[in-house]
Formats: sequence, structure tokens, C-alpha cells
Amino acid sequence: MPKLTIAIDGPAGSGKSSVARRVAELLQYVYLDSGAMYRALALKALKRGIPLNDESRLEKLAKETRIELKSPTPEHEAAGAKNCVFLDGADVTQEIRKPEAAQAASHVAAFQKVREVLVAEQQRAGAGGGVVMEGRDIGTVVFPSAELKIFLDAAPETRAERRWKEHREKGDKLTLAEVFDEVIERDKRDRERKVSPLVRATDAVLVDNTAMGIEETARLIVMLAQERERELARAGRPG
Ligand code: DC
Repeated sequence: MPKLTIAIDGPAGSGKSSVARRVAELLQYVYLDSGAMYRALALKALKRGIPLNDESRLEKLAKETRIELKSPTPEHEAAGAKNCVFLDGADVTQEIRKPEAAQAASHVAAFQKVREVLVAEQQRAGAGGGVVMEGRDIGTVVFPSAELKIFLDAAPETRAERRWKEHREKGDKLTLAEVFDEVIERDKRDRERKVSPLVRATDAVLVDNTAMGIEETARLIVMLAQERERELARAGRPG
């Protein structure tokens, strides 16, 4: 069967990471989390004290930074990580999940020049197909010709509650109200920015998983992917 490029976009807490990882596992595809790259870069900027509104310094930083995504170790997996993230060789898997890193990522991601650097990396990483990549602009900018595009969404309260539970499991003492505010503020910025805003691609399938679990959502996407694989095989595309 031909191997697809599957783009999964959606707001924070829509279940993208868990769903994308499970879809990749079921199809034996590679899973790539583009948000982890923005988070890792933002973490480096925070550590170096680079102002989050300085586009040219952030662009330079992006060009001299090495971000690697690997399969999670059993320890990281037990702590809920979907992949291991290395920033210039150092393991930052846990650190990039803090709310400060999420907010900073959303600021850094608003700049065209920063995005160009990371988008080029993402395109290289997914070039061979057989990938499930998740983010905000995968179906619109990174892989506009992806064979399957999903826009994953859920009610804001549900998305905040999922994030809150993840934080609570890690021992972070944030209230549900704090997490709700963080998620809503970040979504607003990601949707309203001028460059590559979070928007549903016109040819993306909208999946609202407010009342669905990870497994159910992943299996629905796998069914859509297998249908696409069969269509392409019928059309004569080699595997
Ligand atoms: O998916 P995430 O929550 O880990 O992403 C963190 C931030 O990175 C998100 O608020 C916006 C940004 N991002 C982006 O602009 N484009 C992507 N493809 C992925 C993430």
C-alpha cells in the first residue's frame, strides 16, 4: 500500500499528540510533533534571556539550534511523554511541557522568519511519507498536499480539563481555572496571528472529539487513512 503523509492540526488540548502518536503506531508510520520544536526553541530563548519579541535574534537562534525528536524512553512514556525531545543534545522532554514553555512557544511561533527555519526542518523530516505530523499549520503550510488532513477539535472546557489532568498527573499544582485561561489565551494568539494561523484547511476532515476517547479518535483516523491508501493504490500509486 502507498504510504501517506497525514497532517493533524488543531488547538491546544484537542488530543493531537496522543491521537497522532497512536495513529502512527497503528499504521506503523513515523510520528512527528512540530509543536515540540517550537517549545524547545522557546525554552532556549527563555534560558538565554532573548526577548520573545525580537524576531531577528530568534531567527538566528533557530538557525543555530539543533532539535531532535526521538521515540520516548520507558521512563518518559510512564510520565506521559509521546516522544523524547533533545535541544542541542540535552534532554528537555519534561521541561518543554511547562506552561511557561507553551506560552513562550506561541510567541516565538508568531514570527515568519522563525517559522521558515522550523518548517524547512519539518518538511525534511517528513519528506519520505509514511508520517503523521501534528501541529497548527501542517495541512495548510508544511504539507499542503498531504493525502489526509484532519482538523481535530473539542470544546474549550474539555480541552482545558485534559491539560489540567496531565499537569496534575505530573504533580504540577495548577488550578483548572489557570489552565483554562492559559489554553484560551494561547489559542487566541495561535488563531489570530498573521503568519500561518491555526485554521482548518479547506480539504481537512473536521473531527470533534469532545465526547470521544483517544483510541476511538485514532481508530476513526486510521479508517480514513486506510481508505485513502486503497484509493491511491487503485489509482496506481506505488507503495
Ligand atoms: O502543539 P503544542 O501545544 O505543543 O504547540 C506549542 C505552540 O507552538 C503552540 O501554541 C503554537 C506553536 N505551534 C505552531 O505555531 N505551529 C505548529 N505547527 C505547532 C505548534
